[in-house]
Amino acid sequence: MKRRQKRVLQMAFLFMVALIFLPNVGLWSMYREKSLMKSHEPGEQGFPLGLNDGHIYTWTDGLRRRDWHDNESIRKDSQRVGKGEHGKPYPLTEDECDDSVYKENGFNIYVSNNIALDRSLPDIRHPNCKQKLYLENLPNTSIIIPFHNEGWSSLLRTILSITNRTPDHLIAEIILVDDYSDRGCLCWKMKKTSKHSKAYCT
Ligand SMILES: *[C@@H]1O[C@H](CO)[C@@H](O)[C@H](O)[C@H]1NC(C)=O
Ligand SMILES: *[C@@H]1O[C@H](CO)[C@@H](O)[C@H](O)[C@H]1NC(C)=O
Repeated sequence: MKRRQKRVLQMAFLFMVALIFLPNVGLWSMYREKSLMKSHEPGEQGFPLGLNDGHIYTWTDGLRRRDWHDNESIRKDSQRVGKGEHGKPYPLTEDECDDSVYKENGFNIYVSNNIALDRSLPDIRHPNCKQKLYLENLPNTSIIIPFHNEGWSSLLRTILSITNRTPDHLIAEIILVDDYSDRGCLCWKMKKTSKHSKAYCT
């Protein structure tokens, strides 16, 4: 065999090995990923245990995973109509154009005040991520939100999006840290308005 041909063959071989075994992009990692993806068929890789409407699955690693999607909320969100819903732009009329509304917060607070506090957002996850199942038993978590002279509606929207989109038992607490705002006592007002029993102010 000519030297040149040999080199080409060597390169092709190396390329194939890389294609198969490279972490994250290789075919082997795709296979591993697939064995953790949802399977409706009873089989070796995973099978529904028939708990909770059949949305719990076990894998060969022995850990139970769950389909955490809240389909009812997803359906309700998809039906919402209004300004700014589904993360769409909020068209301003000529009367509404006013540069001063950007001054205090760096974004248009007028628009924020006119969008629903529990507005819907599009699901921008990669299609493969939508199939992913996560552990049935997850640790709870503390959410800390520091702010300084933040716009009232955008802060409240932040809290509502957490409480509306997180299973309640996974929220240990929501800590609102008012970092020296001088616009009055926003924190306690916010705790009261968000009506969440686990929201605290510091
Ligand atoms: C949510 O809907 C999807 C698509 O219709 C379905 O595959 C899935 O099992 C549902 N999950 C739950 C938890 O209801
Ligand atoms: C959060 O989890 C810890 C550890 O499991 C538990 O002790 C605690 O009570 C939980 N907190 C809430 C608010 O559920």
